[in-house]
Amino acid sequence: MSTVVLIGAQWGDEGKGKVTDYLAEKAEIVVRYAGGNNAGHTVVVGDQTFQLHLIPSGILYADKPCIVGNGTVIDPEVLLDELEGLKNRGISIKNLRISPKAHVIMPYHRIIDAADEKSKGTKKIGTTGRGIGPAYSDKASRVGIRVTDLIDEENFPLLLKGALEEKNRLLRDYYGIPEMDYNTILKDYQKYAADLKQYVEDISVLVEEAIKEDKNILFEGAQGTLLDLDHGTYPYVTSSHPIAASACLGTGIGPTRINRVAGVAKAYVTRVGSGPFPTELFDNTGDYIRKQGHEYGTTTGRPRRCGWFDAVVARYSARVNGLDYLAVTKLDVLTGLDTIKICTGYKYRGEVISEFPCGRDALKDCEPCYEEFSGWKDDISLVRNYQELPDNAKKYLERVSEVSGVPVGIIGVGPKRDQTIILKEMY
Ligand code: GDP
Ligand code: IMO
Ligand code: MG
Repeated sequence: MSTVVLIGAQWGDEGKGKVTDYLAEKAEIVVRYAGGNNAGHTVVVGDQTFQLHLIPSGILYADKPCIVGNGTVIDPEVLLDELEGLKNRGISIKNLRISPKAHVIMPYHRIIDAADEKSKGTKKIGTTGRGIGPAYSDKASRVGIRVTDLIDEENFPLLLKGALEEKNRLLRDYYGIPEMDYNTILKDYQKYAADLKQYVEDISVLVEEAIKEDKNILFEGAQGTLLDLDHGTYPYVTSSHPIAASACLGTGIGPTRINRVAGVAKAYVTRVGSGPFPTELFDNTGDYIRKQGHEYGTTTGRPRRCGWFDAVVARYSARVNGLDYLAVTKLDVLTGLDTIKICTGYKYRGEVISEFPCGRDALKDCEPCYEEFSGWKDDISLVRNYQELPDNAKKYLERVSEVSGVPVGIIGVGPKRDQTIILKEMY
């Protein structure tokens, strides 16, 4: 039995969906523990592409139990749409379970998300606009509505009334935007509640039982380490905890239950939204990577900012997540480049630093120190065996592993399930 936590080791979109889908074959349960429908996880199976936002990527295997943990925030309308979309494509959803303790994204959360971003002007976070920050803020302020409240027919109308009175004051008096109608929201959310009720169960009990039965459990992270509310590039972060420790908090199990942590990292780096990004490329190479890697957001369609692999970020991610392995994805995207670079440290105020800095503005003054590598021209998308990779690709990966301080366990050479090279078994 093994419990494996799979996290994003950069700024999100590292290919967690693809790697989860690959590893899910041997997992007996797949669990999402944080974030909401700000996530967009792409899974390509045969000639079909699936984009999952809240439902664990394991759902594509028939009858694999998939759990949405208490650490997530759930937009019921989006979740039901996603379920409907899967059903229409012949995917069974009967094994989905949702924590009663997960918080619910309400329509006012989306409105406040947009209004907050607008008021920040050039300092905006570049959120996905899905109401994530305001929903987690209400959770921390102890005024949120949870799934258990949503399905409580007697209490939900009262809770909504209280919450909406406060939010309408905020909308009217602070943001200067129209108030929201109680009856419309009540009617919509009562319908969502009726549709979702069948999936709600105490998932902490389910996961602990599975651990006791020695089952393989895969925890699918969302977002990435550098977007973590505590450990990311604050304030340009999301409002949840993508890091591995959150798998425990977000499902209700103890840290002694986790056996292994794997970090998913692209062979380069991307970021969507605002915030510092030391190795960002503004030249033709950045455009080449964006084009070859189809680097446009799964959730919002925004072009992703692209840059070189950053080993300072990777080492930091290894530390705060306790990484055992790296899954290096999208190696194929670098094919064709004459030179490839790895950032091994930052030059900061005349000194080379090798640890990721904590200060709000420190990264602005960090200049990446690069090592250069010769590229390769051969198409690697059909390679399934490490030895068959071009020598320069192997050299590059060896150095990625060395400077990150983490062995590479999985290599991605294309978006499809089988475009994967395995060096270490996770279970
Ligand atoms: P996630 O949010 O971490 O699950 O990542 P996304 O799905 O948002 O973005 C990753 C994108 O890269 C998706 O379009 C995947 O299909 C694609 N992808 C994943 N792994 C590979 C790989 O090894 N090579 C290539 N070319 N594409 C990949
Ligand atoms: P996956 O799981 C990449 C980013 C947003 C923005 C910041 C805050 O697909 O890797 P939010 O809407 O969460 O308040 O936005 O976080 N962001 C992501 N970037 N991948 C994601 O998820 C992301 N989820 C949030 O772009 O910069
Ligand atoms: Mg994504």
